[in-house]
Amino acid sequence: MTAKEQIGLDRRRGLDGSRILLGVTGSIAAYKGADLASRLTQRGALVDVVMTGSALEFVTPLTFRSLTHRPVVTRLFDVESESSMEHIALAESSDVIVVAPATADLIAKAANGLADDLLTCILLATRSPVVLAPAMDGYMFENPATQENLARLLSRGYIVVGPEEGRLASGQVGKGRLADVADIIGAIGLALGRNGDLAGRSVLVTAGGTQEPLDPVRRLTNRSSGKMGYALAEAARDRGAGVVLISAPTGLRPPYGTQMIPVTTAQEMMDAVARQAAETDVLIMAAAVADYRPSFAADNKIKKSGKAMTLVLEETPDILMEAKALGLIKVGFAAESQDLVVNARQKLEKKGLDLIVANDITAEGSGFGSETNRVTIIHRGGKMEELPTLMKSEVAHQVLDRVVALVSARPKGKG
Ligand code: CTP
Repeated sequence: MTAKEQIGLDRRRGLDGSRILLGVTGSIAAYKGADLASRLTQRGALVDVVMTGSALEFVTPLTFRSLTHRPVVTRLFDVESESSMEHIALAESSDVIVVAPATADLIAKAANGLADDLLTCILLATRSPVVLAPAMDGYMFENPATQENLARLLSRGYIVVGPEEGRLASGQVGKGRLADVADIIGAIGLALGRNGDLAGRSVLVTAGGTQEPLDPVRRLTNRSSGKMGYALAEAARDRGAGVVLISAPTGLRPPYGTQMIPVTTAQEMMDAVARQAAETDVLIMAAAVADYRPSFAADNKIKKSGKAMTLVLEETPDILMEAKALGLIKVGFAAESQDLVVNARQKLEKKGLDLIVANDITAEGSGFGSETNRVTIIHRGGKMEELPTLMKSEVAHQVLDRVVALVSARPKGKG
């Protein structure tokens, strides 16, 4: 039995189990569409690829077929196809349609309701959300015609991701590069989340290890990578929540479609949480907040003195304790190296949490920097659930499943 089967995961959640129609148009960035198709398939999505005639000049259907393990459709009237109404079927069966790369020509056709090939017919026929990832020459993108077309599509609910600034195929530096594939996947998650079980709710996530300055070059910090918090922010976005991510420094890319508030110290994190709390339904404290900071931070670099040095530390504010009286749903994390359950239960009680997610940092496949985590979720009433080792993205969905159950008992409104 796989870990997923063990926990009874058979529903569609986020990208996993979703049906995505990927339209690829004729841009040099079409090869990046292959990376996108591959990553979406790896994330458990069923990807149907539709290529325009000019896309065929850049990449072959075989590339996409090999990556998605599904037929690739290229023509509106395909005699070999089972149904002459294929475009209607594809338009209706997809949870989301993404066009990446989207040329200026495709954008112009979509904005004007033209339907002279399979992809434009699908765009006209669909009622599913549409994500466009433009890629073109910088002057073509800047042209008022393209800008007006995009504005029209945005006003009809299309999600437009990118383009990014950078070096273009023409050699010119400008705005026209296809968005990073991670951001396109984020935009797809955002689109899928429109009907998610956290739609209309606001979730505040903290992530990363805070850094407490000792002098202008040195800081006290910990080994948190921020991956668990970022996975939670992405999973909440993919389920429809409005997400604010308060993050201590990490090496991670800010998740697309979330509001990111960068902070450094425990105090800054607490102030940011306090500012956001009134607008929030759920607070998830995945950050590894430093418990102590130097009681004095030097203005200048501390010099070697040839003698031993004693650091005096003072306690930082406890963010969850400060949030105790707030009527939010509160989820804490407990990273422990001994007496996991006893320590986690004590924290849950002391900090007035609804849930605590406990993990043994000494266990294999768990803890700092790892892509996976093995956690025990403890509920306020005492219920305890031990989960198998899972990808952090899956742990995030497991935690959110419990949050959804708590949230659905409350009226909407804050978010
Ligand atoms: N936490 C917090 N503010 C702090 C320290 C921790 O809000 N100053 C939060 C963490 O984000 C986590 C939970 O409290 O969700 C438990 O953190 P942990 O460091 O394990 O607990 P502590 O209360 O600091 O206990 P100890 O370090 O003694 O284990």
